[in-house]
Amino acid sequence: MTMTRRIDVTGLSKDFTLHLQGGLHLPILSGVDMQVDAGECVVIHAPSGAGKSTLLRCLYANYRASSGSIRIRHDGGWVDLASAPARQIHAVRHSTLGFVTQFLRVIPRIPTLDLVAEPLIAKGVALNEAQEQAKALLARLRIPMRLWHVPPATFSGGEQQRVNIARTMISDYPVLLLDEPTASLDEANRDTVIDMINSARDRGAAIVGIFHDEYVCRALATRLFPITPVQPVTLVPVI
Ligand SMILES: Nc1ncnc2c1ncn2[C@@H]1O[C@H](COP(=O)(O)OP(=O)(O)OP(=O)(O)O)[C@@H](O)[C@H]1O
Ligand SMILES: [Mg+2]
Repeated sequence: MTMTRRIDVTGLSKDFTLHLQGGLHLPILSGVDMQVDAGECVVIHAPSGAGKSTLLRCLYANYRASSGSIRIRHDGGWVDLASAPARQIHAVRHSTLGFVTQFLRVIPRIPTLDLVAEPLIAKGVALNEAQEQAKALLARLRIPMRLWHVPPATFSGGEQQRVNIARTMISDYPVLLLDEPTASLDEANRDTVIDMINSARDRGAAIVGIFHDEYVCRALATRLFPITPVQPVTLVPVI
């Protein structure tokens, strides 16, 4: 079987300018080339602070790349997220690209069940069907039924993370970006999430993830992707 390429990153660099620090310039990523095919789970492997989350955020176009291209297969063609207009980035996120961040980014005041069902409804799935699927996922992720009608604002860290995972995994995105999705989960939930991610890969998703945990990494990675820090971290004593 020939694999379909889904992600094609070439010459990606990202640096930050800290305007409040007198324009201090921080190069983080440089010359990153990364190709990911359908059915792969590529794990970004690098020390803390090397730029793993920065790379994922660039892939989701949360951060604008300083240079290079980030091509994602979308709708039968390629979209370069490094240069795409906002409307096109939105379309890619809507139907192609899913992102599980380590924490819920915004905690809206809407009930958990609606929050999880929402991406399916946005795709035109009937309300009932979307809610049934959301319930099944919440049950599988062991969110107690009494919490389904409560907004997740008051949930524990692990509960919020599972809601976050359910909200992304409910759509069969062809490309998935995962930043430490199991970091605050107990073993049973961690194993459930591992199964979900492996099923997504089995149906052909191209996955890029960050998993610090050795066990999770071994259960999911089809390949490691090392990045080397552009600059060694040096500590300058404050006098
Ligand atoms: N928005 C930003 N502005 C300035 N610097 C940033 C920004 N985002 C990230 N950085 C810097 O980029 C570097 C890499 O951060 P990043 O979060 O990508 O690391 P990481 O590899 O994910 O680390 P960890 O394993 O600890 O999560 C850090 O030094 C961080 O301070
Ligand atoms: Mg990180």
